Amino acid sequence: MSREGLFISFEGIDGSGKSTQARLLAEYLANEGHEMVLTREPGGSPGAEEIRKLVLEGTPDRWSPETELLLFTAARRDHLERVIAPALKAGKVVICDRFADSTRAYQGRAGKGLRQMVDRLHSLMIGREPDLTILVDMDPATGLERALSRGTGEERFEAFGQKLQQQIRADFLAMAQEFSNRIVIVNGGQDIDKVAMDIQAIVNRHLP
Ligand code: ADP
Ligand code: TYD
Repeated sequence: MSREGLFISFEGIDGSGKSTQARLLAEYLANEGHEMVLTREPGGSPGAEEIRKLVLEGTPDRWSPETELLLFTAARRDHLERVIAPALKAGKVVICDRFADSTRAYQGRAGKGLRQMVDRLHSLMIGREPDLTILVDMDPATGLERALSRGTGEERFEAFGQKLQQQIRADFLAMAQEFSNRIVIVNGGQDIDKVAMDIQAIVNRHLP
């Protein structure tokens, strides 16, 4: 680990098991004696959690694609300033459930065509990537079933349906090639424990 701590993000379609695996990894690392912070996006700081409500609740056409991109980026900036950067500076492991790759996939995808704008805003306002990104890859039909069964009221995105999830999955897989230096693909279709063990093996290679 560098002096700066280790920044790990989890990415994947809705219901792929990111939150479950982020939590299991956090428990594993805590048991191993690492100081760590488990957090999520959109949200992760008080201000960003407020923005989370604005973007995840309401009808799908509540915001224009551009406004939505600004809201996600504003939330990330606050989260980075107040939670992620200070923890990394203190040498901790930061585990973040979703980060900028989600914006690349959801706001930057072909349909909305905002990828260039996403990248420009990212370099202007965020300017850093995780050291390691775990892409929990799985079949969208199963992922959507799992996501809807939670019934959290945050269904604005899940309501877009399976075709969108197929596209998002393809975009994440393309990003794994684009950012092959940091994104590692894990098969999320396996049992929870098996997925967790695969992730531990990957993370252990990045720890001192
Ligand atoms: P995400 O954060 O990617 O949306 P979650 O971790 O919240 O996904 O998981 C969605 C649902 O699927 C939860 O009810 C969770 O318990 C369940 N789940 C997670 N991983 C698996 C798995 N490998 N096999 C079966 N069910 C799973
Ligand atoms: P999340 O709570 O992680 O959903 P899930 O647990 O179902 O995977 O994220 C909520 C939604 O927000 C999800 O559909 C993806 C979307 N999202 C974006 O569109 N852009 C972003 O930058 C982020 C972080 C999330």
